[in-house]
Amino acid sequence: MTIDSQEELDALLRAGRVVAEARQAMVDAVTPGTTTGELDAIGREVFRRHGARSAPRLTYRFPGSTCISVNDEAAHGVPSLRRQLRDGDLVNLDVSAELDGFYSDTGISVAVGDVSPVASRLLAATELAQRDAMHAAQPGARLRDLGRAVQRRARRHGFRVIENLNGHGIGRGLHEAPSVPSIDDGQRMVLREGSVLAIEPFLSVSADHVVDDADGWTLRTADGSLVAQFEHSMVVTRDGPLVLTA
Ligand code: CO
Ligand code: CO
Repeated sequence: MTIDSQEELDALLRAGRVVAEARQAMVDAVTPGTTTGELDAIGREVFRRHGARSAPRLTYRFPGSTCISVNDEAAHGVPSLRRQLRDGDLVNLDVSAELDGFYSDTGISVAVGDVSPVASRLLAATELAQRDAMHAAQPGARLRDLGRAVQRRARRHGFRVIENLNGHGIGRGLHEAPSVPSIDDGQRMVLREGSVLAIEPFLSVSADHVVDDADGWTLRTADGSLVAQFEHSMVVTRDGPLVLTA
């Protein structure tokens, strides 16, 4: 969506605060031995307390309140009380919700206990790539500029960009136009002030695309390599990104 009023911005900020709070509560509970089902319950409780609803459940009948993906799982992992996190895992928490008709979406990858040096570097590079893309999202910029910023960051750190996962517009729905590329795909569409975007690059050690898992939900790297994602919902403004999910 594109923002036209202060009321819309306020509503988006409220939704953004709920998903950011849920994300942080889940991050705080990440430790070896915790199950992804327990983390999901923590997010669900934050939603409930604020009267928010899980966006993937509402939109896609996803069988969880949040998406939790481990190691080579990039996205849409289904939380389970049988899935225990182990020391050295990378876990991605993707948290999106609807509050009073407005949607917000955020994600973070975090280390479980002590991770390998390459996993640490992947986390740092992916967080920077996400920030680079947000800063490229200025009025007058083209969508391809965001992808180019992600690619540049990935190359500098020796990682690959997952090309078949994109960011998206957000606001009145979870996934709105435009699709926000994570590579320079030549899209010349120009961003305007007030445009609301969820920016979520995925970087991997060696994969450039994800494939469907047999469970019908999970997306994994094609070669089984580690993957990380960071995501924020933001508004495009002349003064730089107005991050809704900080
Ligand atoms: Co998300
Ligand atoms: Co998203």
